[in-house]
Amino acid sequence: MDKLIIEGGVKLKGEVTVSGAKNSVLPILAATLLTDDACVIKDVPNLRDTNTMLKILRALGKNAELDKGIVTVSSLKNTNFIADYKLVSTMRASFCVLGPLLGKLKKAKVSLPGGCIIGVRPVDLHLKGIKCLGADVSIESGYVVAKASRLRGSRMYLGGVYGSSVLATDNVMMAAVLAQGKTVIESAACEPEVVDLAEFLNKMGAKIKGHGTPVIEIEGVRHLHGATHTIIPDRIEAGTLMIAALITRGDICIKNVLFQHLGALIDKLEEAGASITKKDTTVRVRCKRRLRAVNITTLPYPGFPTDMQAQIMSLMSVTPGISVITEKIYPDRFMHVAELNRMGAHIQREGPHAIVEGVKGLSGAPVMASDLRASACLALAGLVAHARTSISRIYHLERGYENLEGKLERLGAKIWREKE
Ligand code: EPZ
Repeated sequence: MDKLIIEGGVKLKGEVTVSGAKNSVLPILAATLLTDDACVIKDVPNLRDTNTMLKILRALGKNAELDKGIVTVSSLKNTNFIADYKLVSTMRASFCVLGPLLGKLKKAKVSLPGGCIIGVRPVDLHLKGIKCLGADVSIESGYVVAKASRLRGSRMYLGGVYGSSVLATDNVMMAAVLAQGKTVIESAACEPEVVDLAEFLNKMGAKIKGHGTPVIEIEGVRHLHGATHTIIPDRIEAGTLMIAALITRGDICIKNVLFQHLGALIDKLEEAGASITKKDTTVRVRCKRRLRAVNITTLPYPGFPTDMQAQIMSLMSVTPGISVITEKIYPDRFMHVAELNRMGAHIQREGPHAIVEGVKGLSGAPVMASDLRASACLALAGLVAHARTSISRIYHLERGYENLEGKLERLGAKIWREKE
């Protein structure tokens, strides 16, 4: 295993381009199971998670290869409806093959994804949705077994105790596109990645309206054909790079950014004193004056994204003042607090809140990545920490960021890999 070494203290400067969105490409690759025709997906980031999803598609009877950012998916003869434990357990998002398998084959056997470091990760809303469509669902030896002689459109409420669910919305949408009749999903997730999936499904011949709002309507059709689609830019990578500019007091231009996907984050960064200007799909981020602490509460889109919580905590840990960060999506998503405190941060956890008292500086230290966004948070802290930070278990980082260390290095960061 590799570790990432960062010598802190360099102000980042220059240009960087954001890759395609991980949380868009994963359900869109799963959606190719809904047709036997070939599909071409462009701007696919070369990530650990992308390659896991390609392995799952191959196990389900598809030919799927990533070559220079383009994935071509075509069907082999032997379709399979079982997504097995050893693949699903490595990546929770692979649970989103449930909907398309059920939609296309009217049967699916998908391993329960299990929890992960950021929380229990239940799937009750996924199962509620497919049951509403008429599927018989049982749990057998750690697998969800679903089957239906036919799927019938229906109205359903898909909100949970933590609000809407991104992948439950995706799964139900993908099961409903080939159902008979109309499906209405109330309290649907509004994330841009859900919109991107719906746009791809409509290119395949689906009839989906209202995506991006809390009420999505799906008119079932008999057949979906192949399509070509370009993945939207990764708003979380864009946000992470914005924080990299601010935490190092640098000045960077980030290309391939859809500004409208980052409203809540940009609002908070400007409140903290950041200067953020945009021209088309390029955003320039710098500090023209001292930053000040702000309070953050994570919410479903368009609220402040939970996937940016760890990263902004790094920034607040070296910003004068007190910042209260409240995590309303995954109340346990604070594994990064202990590691930041090892670097000299002053963060106190109080239930779903983290109280961050900004310090003058962090000190480099050996730290351990625990999950994808915590890894990014530690890399950001390392950029500003005094002396050297070494981050172990960076396979977590490789799951969701395409060559982040290369992008940071091109912006001037002193960052490299070493063997553990
Ligand atoms: C997606 O996960 C993202 N992953 C996550 O990004 C992201 O943090 C999350 O949405 C929230 O925005 C992908 O898109 C691949 P949810 P998902 O269902 O769909 C609860 C990253 O770092 N819930 O929207 O699995 C759940 O426990 C990853 O890129 C239920 O209660 O998340 C959570 O508290 C991490 N029952 C809340 O809803 C359910 O059936 C939102 O989860 C499903 C979810």
